[in-house]
Amino acid sequence: MKLFNITPGHDISGEIRVASDKSITHRALLLSALCTEPTEIISPLLSEDTYATINAVRACGIEITQEEGKELVVKGGVLSAPNGTIDCGNSGTLIRLFCGIAVGRNLSCKLVGDASLMQRPMKRITEPLQEMGAVINSEKGKPPIVLGERSEALRGIMHSNIVNSAQVKTSLLLAGLYAEGNTIIAEPIPSRDHGELMLIEFGAKLSRSKDGRIVQINSGELTSPGNIAVPADISSAVFFIVAAAIAPAGEITLKEVGINSSRTGALDILLQMGADIDILNRRTMGNEPVADICVRSSQLHGIKIGAEMIPSAIDDIPALLIAAAAARGETHITGAGELRHKESDRISSMVTGLQELGINCTELPDGVIVQGKNSGKPIFNSGTVNSEGDHRIAMAFAMASVRAKGNITISDTANVNTSFPNFTKLSNSVGIRIVEESDDDA
Ligand code: S3P
Repeated sequence: MKLFNITPGHDISGEIRVASDKSITHRALLLSALCTEPTEIISPLLSEDTYATINAVRACGIEITQEEGKELVVKGGVLSAPNGTIDCGNSGTLIRLFCGIAVGRNLSCKLVGDASLMQRPMKRITEPLQEMGAVINSEKGKPPIVLGERSEALRGIMHSNIVNSAQVKTSLLLAGLYAEGNTIIAEPIPSRDHGELMLIEFGAKLSRSKDGRIVQINSGELTSPGNIAVPADISSAVFFIVAAAIAPAGEITLKEVGINSSRTGALDILLQMGADIDILNRRTMGNEPVADICVRSSQLHGIKIGAEMIPSAIDDIPALLIAAAAARGETHITGAGELRHKESDRISSMVTGLQELGINCTELPDGVIVQGKNSGKPIFNSGTVNSEGDHRIAMAFAMASVRAKGNITISDTANVNTSFPNFTKLSNSVGIRIVEESDDDA
């Protein structure tokens, strides 16, 4: 099993571009597959999760070529039903979005994933897709998902997305592209809107309420915009933002990061905690806003984080909990029960790991209370943290090394490759001293 062995490194500095956005890359691949003209995807994320999407699209007879090791060209068209089972690996986004496409294009297929994905909830997509007329089933609400050919037309529905899931929303919008009548999705708190922005870029008939809570799509063919450029992923940048904020000294700049407001909850939360963050060179890439983010060492304080702040920071709570441990006073997170349904149960994984490193925290059914230790000195004890095979848990705990008293070992780290293949190299380049090992070597 792979592990990280990290020696404390107390100052971090540098200028880096973190991995490209995972959500946007998945969507660019899937939407491009539906167009008859080719689409070039510039600076896509090439990681285990997005390779799983590339393979799924190829399995439907669509050609994808890789130019100069970086750009992808998708020659979209008519998708055919894949021969055999599609392996979605660790990717919840792939399995859920692919269901929307398979239902829309009436493809029969079977979808599976790794041990983590096989335990994740799927009724949130199978039930509304069944209501649209799809022949789709999952065993006990978990993968495998089996899709059969439908003889009747697909019909639009009105769906209340009470879990505020962007995966559910995009999946239903993709099916809605091929349904009779309108498909309308309403959310209590708006989830990330990359799907809507990209569908608009591909010419879909999509409209939204001003507050982004209600989205409507009508059937229609997509037209390729020719190319789609993918910004750096704010949920990969957040590890370095937290490390720079809690480090005793230093400054870091993260280049070309997506700052779509449906994703920047972590920046808002860290600013409220007193972080010294500047957003520079604001610009756009396609329909997505991007900027460079400069972060300096800061004195943080604990805050209350409630349900309304969770969807825009959903993937960033593990990193924020490391910041909370290094902040003065208590941080209280509630309304975050969805974290229990991610690549691991992130509430439980984080509480166990923080306690292992000597941080006083309490697990709530839908959140965590952390007693911060802002002494200005190293605060995390030396210890071994089990990442539970969850990439974001592994990367979050790696950042604790900037305020650690001794070595931190993080086990089961292979899945960092699902979202951030050059994580250790970039970490070392800014002063976070990670050595990748394998306990099979012993
Ligand atoms: C994603 C949405 C979020 C997020 C996941 C990626 C997406 O999941 O946690 O990493 O690309 O739509 P939910 O839709 O389950 O909240």
